[in-house]
Amino acid sequence: MLSAEQNARLTQIGPNSPAGNLLRQYWVPAALSDELAGDRPVVPVRLMGEDLVLFRGENNQLSLVQRHCPHRGADLCYGRLEGDSLRCVFHGWLFDQSGQCVEQPAEPEGSKMHQQIKLRNYPVIERNGIVFAYMAGGTPPAFPNIDCFRAPHSHVFAFKGLWQCNWLQALEVGIDPAHASFLHRFLEDEDPAESYGKQFRDTAADTEIPMTQLLREFPRPDLEIEETAFGLRLIAKRKIDDQRLHVRVTNQLFPCAITIPMSNEMNITQWHVPIDDTNCYWYAMFTSFTDPVDKEKMRSQRLKEHRLPDYAPHKNQSNQYHYDPVEQQKMTYTGMGQDINVHDQWACESMGAIQDRTDEHLGRTDVGIIRYRRILSKMIEKCGNGEADLLMTENTSSIQGPRSIDAITSLENWQQEWQDFDDKRRSAASWEAHYNKEFAE
Ligand code: FES
Ligand SMILES: [Fe+2]
Repeated sequence: MLSAEQNARLTQIGPNSPAGNLLRQYWVPAALSDELAGDRPVVPVRLMGEDLVLFRGENNQLSLVQRHCPHRGADLCYGRLEGDSLRCVFHGWLFDQSGQCVEQPAEPEGSKMHQQIKLRNYPVIERNGIVFAYMAGGTPPAFPNIDCFRAPHSHVFAFKGLWQCNWLQALEVGIDPAHASFLHRFLEDEDPAESYGKQFRDTAADTEIPMTQLLREFPRPDLEIEETAFGLRLIAKRKIDDQRLHVRVTNQLFPCAITIPMSNEMNITQWHVPIDDTNCYWYAMFTSFTDPVDKEKMRSQRLKEHRLPDYAPHKNQSNQYHYDPVEQQKMTYTGMGQDINVHDQWACESMGAIQDRTDEHLGRTDVGIIRYRRILSKMIEKCGNGEADLLMTENTSSIQGPRSIDAITSLENWQQEWQDFDDKRRSAASWEAHYNKEFAE
């Protein structure tokens, strides 16, 4: 439980807010590369309460600049893309890729006024299908050397989706390992051969047990949380019988991402990025250790559930998430279909735009959330004091993995065996996925 002041401090992310200042110290997803794929690569971006425009010049370079023209505030998203520059269509002011105003065609000949005008702009970097932005001034941290960035482009698929709630409750569902046994429960198991591109539909590790059965039959995981150089490692152990333990390892990658296993073949790195205080996007990179990702299939699976251009889910609050009581009795725990993203979306949005944490009762299953809030709170304070050594801002290029895996181990030696299981997958990978144990634990 938090006080109202603490809750506001952890959740509000606008310019000059304490958590907003902290989140701005990191590279965060701003758009999918897919959004820039059309004939006119200019897209609106709302990020951390700021309205921006992202555009790609003819030279392929990306720019992220303020959305409203500094002349009289017209919308630059409707601007004319001229070579590498963007021209406001109200009075023709032209801005180059750094945001510098270079022409004011209606001002008197020889006017130098444009030299004083520059758009607010932020550095961006494109990695494996996502454009990342850095919204603080100064020097950005290096990218962590994690699997989704190490894997070749062919082995990573990126997608996103809109949730109408605060970013923190969206992140917190990802560090709550117990909910998968309930929220994502399927009352019947699907043939794992049909599982491609879906979460929790493969078999558990190298067994014949479908993950759906395992989660359903063993709902009380024993949770262990470790603080690491990247954030938190969450280990959920489910005792299957007197010989075997199911070990599921997931991670919180500070500040706003998680990494989780999706299937035996793929992991997911998922960022929960504030659009503003009451809306957020999840951005995911699905990374395959074996074959190249079937991007067409993964994209079409997800486009069936989302509308463009804003990636809003078709199932949402306005249509009760297509809730079906008969399905709830017979097939799924929620009655909201098979897509687990919808289940998570419902859980987060149904709390209200910003969860009232003055009226919650955290239990043992919430230990990851409790630890994360403590770290977040500490980092907000450090950032406010101007201290430089924030988590994940220094030596970030030595961060690997993080190891995210479903493994079946013995009861005694599980701590070593889940790592061996991960090493085995990594050494069989079709790209250089080796995990160096000296690094970043
Ligand atoms: S408002 Fe943009 S040029 Fe006038
Ligand atoms: Fe979930």
